[in-house]
Amino acid sequence: EKGGYDYFMLKEIAEQPKAVADTLLGRIDAAGSLTLDEVRISAAELREVDKVVIVACGTAFHAGLIAKYAIEHWTRIPCEVELASEFRYRDPILGPRSLVIAISQSGETMDTLMALRHAREQGSKVLAICNTNGSTIPRESDAVLYTHAGPEVAVASTKAFLTQLVACYLVALYLGQVRGTKWGDEISAVVRDLSHISGEVERVLETMEPVRALARSLADKKTVLFLGRHVGYPVALEGALKLKELAYMHAEGFAAGELKHGPIALIEEDLPVVVVVPSPRGRSVIHDKIVSNIQEIRARGARTIVIAEEGDEAVVPYADHLIRIPATPTLLQPLVATVPLQVFACELATARGNEVDQPRNLAKSVTVE
Ligand code: F6R
Repeated sequence: EKGGYDYFMLKEIAEQPKAVADTLLGRIDAAGSLTLDEVRISAAELREVDKVVIVACGTAFHAGLIAKYAIEHWTRIPCEVELASEFRYRDPILGPRSLVIAISQSGETMDTLMALRHAREQGSKVLAICNTNGSTIPRESDAVLYTHAGPEVAVASTKAFLTQLVACYLVALYLGQVRGTKWGDEISAVVRDLSHISGEVERVLETMEPVRALARSLADKKTVLFLGRHVGYPVALEGALKLKELAYMHAEGFAAGELKHGPIALIEEDLPVVVVVPSPRGRSVIHDKIVSNIQEIRARGARTIVIAEEGDEAVVPYADHLIRIPATPTLLQPLVATVPLQVFACELATARGNEVDQPRNLAKSVTVE
């Protein structure tokens, strides 16, 4: 059942290109238009939406954080992302024109379910992004867009996360299409790139041996920090979460721009710091700023592990370890940048003798609040 792999997690990491392709299948037509017929919220209602609110937990929450960048950029609708466990306890401002998106692999997470119930009580429409057919969250939502990751057995979420991202991009693009906002060359290019992205994920998987070796060499460390900016920030949070739950190491993700507001005090000799570098094309200002962040932490002794696009030469002098990922449009970069972090955490867990598929104290679906 593990298909020749030692762990379900390794199998599920390897299945990601297919999971991504399956989630896209039949949802983009030959002309590059989105056909999300299954989303049973009418175009007229979607045109009225004045606010998107995403609720989720854990890894699904990180997918939501990334979705915010895509939704606001492509549709210009304000988008909030909130931990489901915080959401309903602060009397959130919701109404009939709010679209609430609940993201959940299992479809049974109690915090997310309670958040969506609260949203529906306020008269908002709820769209579920879910991997489990017929589970509670989609049953209680107005509409559902299923991810097609297939069953995810390992407790740590991998392929479900990538497909959640794909579903979020599809929803963002669909909202843009329905509302006619910014539907231009940029969007058509993204739709095209999205249809090739599973091949790019495959290419990343083929180059993971140095990442494994690096992970093994860090098995005795106590702390690993993760930095990112723009969509790289939630990727950093996800990298840190994977390391905590699998390797039981202290790991923290930061927005790189926040370094100088506190966290830089943590940097000490030989501390491993993983940095997710945005594309040098597009938002080049952010790219240049993160390169100076890498310089700053390295000058203070950090061991820099840099994840950067192929062809990004500016990072080379400051990278103690360089992990290359294919060039993608900025907003899609999390689909390729997250994969090395999953492999890194899985290998570190193995090197530390931990149970990869069943980390201590964790359950695959959290059905209590
Ligand atoms: C992390 C992980 C958890 C889940 C979270 C939400 O690897 O698996 O953080 O992402 O418990 O679960 P779902 O998506 O089932 O609602």
